Amino acid sequence: MEQYAIKGGNPLVGEVEIGGAKNAALAILAASIMTDETVLIENVPDVRDTNVMMQAIESIGGIVEHLDRHTVRISGKSITDLVIEDDFIKKIRASYYLLGALLGKHKKAQVTLPGGCNIGLRPIDQHIKGFRALGADVRIEHGFIIAEAERLRGGHIYMDVVTVGATIDVMMAAVLAEGQTIIENAAKEPHVVDVANFLNSMGAVIRGAGTDVIRIKGVPKLHGTEYTIIPDQIEAGTFMFAAAVTKGDVTVKNVIPKHLESISAKLTEIGCEVEESDDAVRVVASKPLSHTHVKTLPYPGFPTDMQPQITVALGLSRGTSIVTESIFENRFKYVDELTRMGASIKVESNTAIIDGVSKYTGASISAPDLRAGAALVIAGLAAEGTTVIDDIKFIERGYEDFHIKLQNLGAQIERVNSERELQKFRLKTG
Ligand code: UD1
Repeated sequence: MEQYAIKGGNPLVGEVEIGGAKNAALAILAASIMTDETVLIENVPDVRDTNVMMQAIESIGGIVEHLDRHTVRISGKSITDLVIEDDFIKKIRASYYLLGALLGKHKKAQVTLPGGCNIGLRPIDQHIKGFRALGADVRIEHGFIIAEAERLRGGHIYMDVVTVGATIDVMMAAVLAEGQTIIENAAKEPHVVDVANFLNSMGAVIRGAGTDVIRIKGVPKLHGTEYTIIPDQIEAGTFMFAAAVTKGDVTVKNVIPKHLESISAKLTEIGCEVEESDDAVRVVASKPLSHTHVKTLPYPGFPTDMQPQITVALGLSRGTSIVTESIFENRFKYVDELTRMGASIKVESNTAIIDGVSKYTGASISAPDLRAGAALVIAGLAAEGTTVIDDIKFIERGYEDFHIKLQNLGAQIERVNSERELQKFRLKTG
């Protein structure tokens, strides 16, 4: 029964190093099996999702060597099995990246239908539409998606919605298709660009990643590479909001400030000072927070993966704020938990109307999903008294050493494993 025990009230102060982007890593790990040569990947975050992805690669015959905690060497040469049926894969939605990677390289793939965070319906119709446009036959049978083609040929795809997953998945398969593929209404997230850069470093010819039209000229094969994954925009943003709600002063290091612009802008709007340097952003929260409105949007808009964190901050801000979730339909499940901590929030369909309160109070709560879980940790750090968070396995899907990084900033947080450890924490923190 792993839990986080948190005694709130300490402002977070100091510096924190941000790790590699989980969502870029998941796609890059999958794409690394698209060559028979060896690929070296650095800055891989050591989180549950990336570890599950590497286990999935091993389960089909790939070789994954951990050179150190964040560096892996992958060889996909020995892959012969094109069926991902390992139970692990049900745990991560990004298993669909193996579909694009295997279909591109081997012209056949069979992957369990994706799981992952339960934050909405999350269809995969755009992935399927993209693969079909490349000439693949795609069907769903017995819980698997099966995609196969005698030859893949370039196609013209207009995505009906802006989707990170389908953009990357189709881009991967198209890299080894014959001729040119054009993806219109493509997602522009930093990790789409990172995956394109990674594939280009393997000999792919992808142009326009980061804009809404991506052009891919198919090549017959890819070669080995060495690549460093970009910093995690959402991990960085989470610490920035942790600084804001605890009235702290935190410098997030090893980031690309440009990727954080929408987050920095909202923090400034609610009264924080945000200082950017080359590869760091400092957030100082010395004034009371003020209300604002925010709507989640595809990049460069405000990320849906930061929606729970900003809601937690606005719950403690003066006045009434409105948060509109436009990407996923079921992403306010954590609001009930936050209400138990004293928040005053009303959810109507995809909108949360937040009346700021002067404080949260500690409670026993559960993490409903990855980002909401992290947001509840932040709420606990700001709350009066002790908060105990269950189901932290969700948080550990995407945050490496979360409690240790927070401790280093002065937070009173521990990962406890038993009632006894929890009691010890309560005694120690008073
Ligand atoms: C990825 C991220 C997730 C983030 C999300 C949006 C990973 C592993 N996960 O998820 O953390 O919250 O981007 O930034 O990178 N959609 C369809 N049909 C499809 C695919 C998507 O209708 O075939 C819809 C979804 O329901 C959603 C929207 O498109 O409403 C965006 O989804 P998408 O960008 O694909 O999210 P994921 O790739 O699942």
